[in-house]
Amino acid sequence: MTKLIVGNWKLNPATLNEAVALASAVSVSVKSELYEQMVLLPPFVFLEELAKKFRQIQWGAQDFFWEDKGAYTGEISLGMLKDIGVGWVLVGHSERRRMFGETDETVNKKVLAALSQDFKVIVAVGELQRDDGEEVIISSFKKSISGIKLQAPSSKLQDLIVAYEPVWAISTNPGAVADDPARSNGIIGQLKLAAYEMFGDESKSIRFLYGGSVNAANAAGSLAQPNIDGALVGGASLNSDEFLRIINTTASVS
Ligand code: PGA
Repeated sequence: MTKLIVGNWKLNPATLNEAVALASAVSVSVKSELYEQMVLLPPFVFLEELAKKFRQIQWGAQDFFWEDKGAYTGEISLGMLKDIGVGWVLVGHSERRRMFGETDETVNKKVLAALSQDFKVIVAVGELQRDDGEEVIISSFKKSISGIKLQAPSSKLQDLIVAYEPVWAISTNPGAVADDPARSNGIIGQLKLAAYEMFGDESKSIRFLYGGSVNAANAAGSLAQPNIDGALVGGASLNSDEFLRIINTTASVS
């Protein structure tokens, strides 16, 4: 399985001009064969312009709402995203869970809606407290992805990407440090086992990423782990040189 690198820009940069400059700096330097291993998640309002200007880049949204239309002030639908050429979505990021009231139940509704509309969906799970046990992570994971129907010929699971992100490892949190790669490899191994119990052999097409303070210096150590299929990168994706170095790491570990 080739490694996947997702850049989550969060609430950055400040202007469309800066967003175009960042996308441009990545786009001019990324090796053409690595485009399909890279996804960028800018803020909603920049997406349309970026998707139009940089067609080779796979673009995604950081969130969306599961209904198609109606009285849902402030929300964005999957149909609107599809209409502007966006094919990927992130759901359940810990910042949305902690600050904006997302629960496993709302995350699950979004996962099912996105898969049913043929989006690739990255679902983030991870413990909020350092001493939360593995059971907490696995239970949240199972609830977040429950109810996916395996329908031949396409099971949909190849469109599902899971990002394991321990909150205490996210770079903007006080005292954050990247997780020990062997530890996150072990947790992801447990998540893969849980997915196998839910979906059998088909679960092998789900990709599992690690996220939390990934940078150019530590990416190789994490990506070399057998269970880790890629990285969800926050802060380091805002610096094109740093991000390109992470992308280039995939070539040496795939
Ligand atoms: P970080 O963010 O790489 O800045 O730690 C990761 C994330 O929150 O997705």
